[in-house]
Amino acid sequence: MRVLSGTKPTGDQLHLGNYFGALRQFVALQEKYEDALYFIADYHSMTSVRDAATRRRNAFNVALDYLAAGLDPDRAILFRQSDIPEVCELTWLLTSITPMGMLERAHAYKAAMDRGESVDHGLFTYPVLMAADILLYRADLVPVGQDQKQHIEMARDMAQRFNNTYGSEALVLPEPYILRDAATIPGTDGQKMSKSYDNTIAMFAPKKQLKKSVMGIVTDSTPVEEPKDPAGALFELWRLFATPEEHREMAERARAGGLGYGEVKKDLLARLLDHFGPMRERRASFEERPDDVEDILRRGAQRARAIGAPVLEACRAAAGLGAPT
Ligand code: ADP
Ligand code: TRP
Repeated sequence: MRVLSGTKPTGDQLHLGNYFGALRQFVALQEKYEDALYFIADYHSMTSVRDAATRRRNAFNVALDYLAAGLDPDRAILFRQSDIPEVCELTWLLTSITPMGMLERAHAYKAAMDRGESVDHGLFTYPVLMAADILLYRADLVPVGQDQKQHIEMARDMAQRFNNTYGSEALVLPEPYILRDAATIPGTDGQKMSKSYDNTIAMFAPKKQLKKSVMGIVTDSTPVEEPKDPAGALFELWRLFATPEEHREMAERARAGGLGYGEVKKDLLARLLDHFGPMRERRASFEERPDDVEDILRRGAQRARAIGAPVLEACRAAAGLGAPT
């Protein structure tokens, strides 16, 4: 079983929702599946980021986030998408068997059209590049959020069309592995935590910013001595860092009255710093050693290419491209 997933380097600070909803689970999968590939989708970022220095900085930050969260580069393969330009050639091979209608139904393209944005060809063809990302490495399982499920289904469809068209078995049909979204993390305003709502808690941000976010969690105006309902964003967030027993005690104290929201916020901040302390340190330490991070990515690219190049070769041969072998 081979697991693969990608992260678009768009420059957003990672928040608790991304960590608990995605990154933490990616890292956990490296334990379960020996063969795990994670890449920084810098080709994909070209549809929105249009500055070279920004792209490089963003890509470096994604590498830091993965390494900080505990991705072990000796176990899983961490690489930068653009270090394996073979993926672009596979994209072309897939493009020529992909019906326009399939791409016209893609959510990201439809949403951009609905918003009246001018859409470039890169955004339109994004699902084909994403299919190539997956198919080049013959990935079996692709852990993603619900919003990406359609892309995985398209990748399956393209793999099948290519194999059928050229009587080939080069491409493997991937399965989506939908990340648990039962645990949707609330933001500081109580809605789903999302960069689009400006309600995030960015756990790798400077401590001052982290404190400001925690203190800004919206609560009602129940006075300290009054009983409180131990639900809502503050208690939900606090709960992420507490044992079930601690949570039971806290809920009792809340219902009894005498517990102030300020106390819960202070405790949440302390727990956040405690929980993410080692990760923050690991991140800072890698940040000071960009050459080591580059080495990890270079090694990752070598390993990824060793898997991908023969798959592309098989596709080329099946399609009658290049010198006959
Ligand atoms: P945002 O909503 O901030 O734009 P993204 O869409 O970039 O976040 O999310 C990246 C990943 O993080 C997705 O796989 C998604 O499932 C996960 N994720 C984002 N926000 C949350 C949240 N509030 N709770 C759980 N998972 C989340
Ligand atoms: N499109 C994905 C996102 O926006 C990122 C991505 C690119 C990806 N290629 C991938 C995810 C391949 C899984 C597999 O989140």
